[in-house]
Amino acid sequence: MSQQVAWQLSLVLMTLLACVFAYVGGTAGTREEDYTPLQKRAYRVRAWLFWILVLLFGPVMVYTLLDLPYDAATSRSGGAPAQIIEAVGYQWRWELSRDHVVAGEPVEFRVSSADVNHGFGIYDPDMRLVAQTQVMPGYTNKVRHTFDREGTYKVLCMEYCGIAHHNMMAEIKVGRPEERR
Ligand code: CUA
Repeated sequence: MSQQVAWQLSLVLMTLLACVFAYVGGTAGTREEDYTPLQKRAYRVRAWLFWILVLLFGPVMVYTLLDLPYDAATSRSGGAPAQIIEAVGYQWRWELSRDHVVAGEPVEFRVSSADVNHGFGIYDPDMRLVAQTQVMPGYTNKVRHTFDREGTYKVLCMEYCGIAHHNMMAEIKVGRPEERR
């Protein structure tokens, strides 16, 4: 959706630019002895262009910033959520401290590796990536995600880590809040 907007916007901008080129090209032939009026006009056009750009890119910038893919819950504010999954990557499997959580409440993943670098990617039932972080030995990376629908999610390794990299798969069952134990 936003990609389409960006595409249409760049089409408009490219057209505008082409118009400017065409205008300059079209008026280039006429010679004027006194360039002062022309210069004044150019400055006016430049000032207009500047404000058009500001008015155009200001909202675009705010819009794209609002659309950042980071979960708001990732921010440092607030205590740790009640649902915590410790995840350790091994060549070539995942060890999760639990594999059942409930939807609608934040889950904090604390991710680390027992050997080499891996990638921790959580995929929804449609196999769309919903959250990810790097998995490094000696570090615990935290990522928070609130599952908004129930189902069986998959954890896949996102960084090539050896011959059986593709075998690094785990499942997380996301249930309804009433199923909380
Ligand atoms: Cu672990 Cu790829």
